[in-house]
Amino acid sequence: MSVHKTQIANAAELIRNGSVVAFPTETVYGLGADATSDIAVKKIFQLKGRPAHNPLIVHLAHREQLSEYVALKQKSRVAEQLERLSPLWPGPLTIVFPQKKSIITDSASAGLPSVGIRIPNHPIATALLELSNRPIAAPSANISEYVSATTGEHVKDCFGDSIHILDGGPCSLGIESTIIQLSEEHAATILRPGSITREQLKEHLVEELSPIQPDNSMQEKVIAPGQLKKHYAPRTPLYFVERDQHTSFMEAAKSLRVARIFFSEQEKVRDASMSTYYLSTSGEHHECAKNLYATIRALDKAHLDLIVIEKPKQGPLFEALYDRLKRAVKEPKTLLSLAEKTSIE
Ligand code: TXA
Ligand code: MG
Repeated sequence: MSVHKTQIANAAELIRNGSVVAFPTETVYGLGADATSDIAVKKIFQLKGRPAHNPLIVHLAHREQLSEYVALKQKSRVAEQLERLSPLWPGPLTIVFPQKKSIITDSASAGLPSVGIRIPNHPIATALLELSNRPIAAPSANISEYVSATTGEHVKDCFGDSIHILDGGPCSLGIESTIIQLSEEHAATILRPGSITREQLKEHLVEELSPIQPDNSMQEKVIAPGQLKKHYAPRTPLYFVERDQHTSFMEAAKSLRVARIFFSEQEKVRDASMSTYYLSTSGEHHECAKNLYATIRALDKAHLDLIVIEKPKQGPLFEALYDRLKRAVKEPKTLLSLAEKTSIE
């Protein structure tokens, strides 16, 4: 879908006037507002129903603007790490710096001294940032805890006509940015995996990455609320079911309205009794990521009893997909009791 330059200019004017605008990036749609305005940023939290302790990512048009918003000491460890990571910008990478400048309003960073910065690689996002001449604070454009939006239609499903949407069609990557936190004291840490993989980050940084922190320790901490356990979840219960358990599960769940999602068409499931969706033809991870949220959202509208999805394969490229799904699925034991109950009836 093409967006005319005048539409972007109008949206930029709205940003400058303190309104909220949804816009496409190559990862997911963002719900943006002027990151220097406390009133504008608070509108985002209100619209999303987002807890005030969960900081927003600040988007910039160009790398050269960074020093306006981030306090960086020359020749420091963070400055050196930034230099090494710079080839990945613009792109699906958010870098959390230890110290923001005061021009970024405290509500955007949820009162933290640090700030997450991203330079998106999408012509509409870049034009909006350039024309508004503002840093834009933007979380994913969904109601808090729901599945992120990868089309303008998805944004509309969440917010109706209450916000201005720049509809640039489907996002090319379909999964949120990788978030890496830099620090003077520790090795860099991945706070959220994404399409920039651990291996790519290691290649650019000379030093090792800190091991990813276990979920439990992250639950209540403000350091990386993106790790909150319940997230990205559809309203219809979503469960992992392994491929080799499908036949027995389907037998047990015969009287339920179920859709199932597989990553690859390669091993077509013969049983035609249930609607089956494939995220890709070959299992290629980019294709899977691109289709994941759209598939889950579409099925969530179908009034099913439950949706089942196979576990992503192990491996670096599937780390991000697994990370999102494990926060979206329900406990397996509740599925077993549901299936057992219906098989007895
Ligand atoms: O791809 C993306 O990252 C999209 C597009 C719109 O840029 N944005 C996005 O934003 O996914 P959001 O708010 O849905 O997720 C950002 C995550 C949040 O979980 C937040 O806790 C974390 O980034 N975050 C932001 N600033 C942080 C900070 N200073 N320290 C630690 N975590 C931070
Ligand atoms: Mg989000």
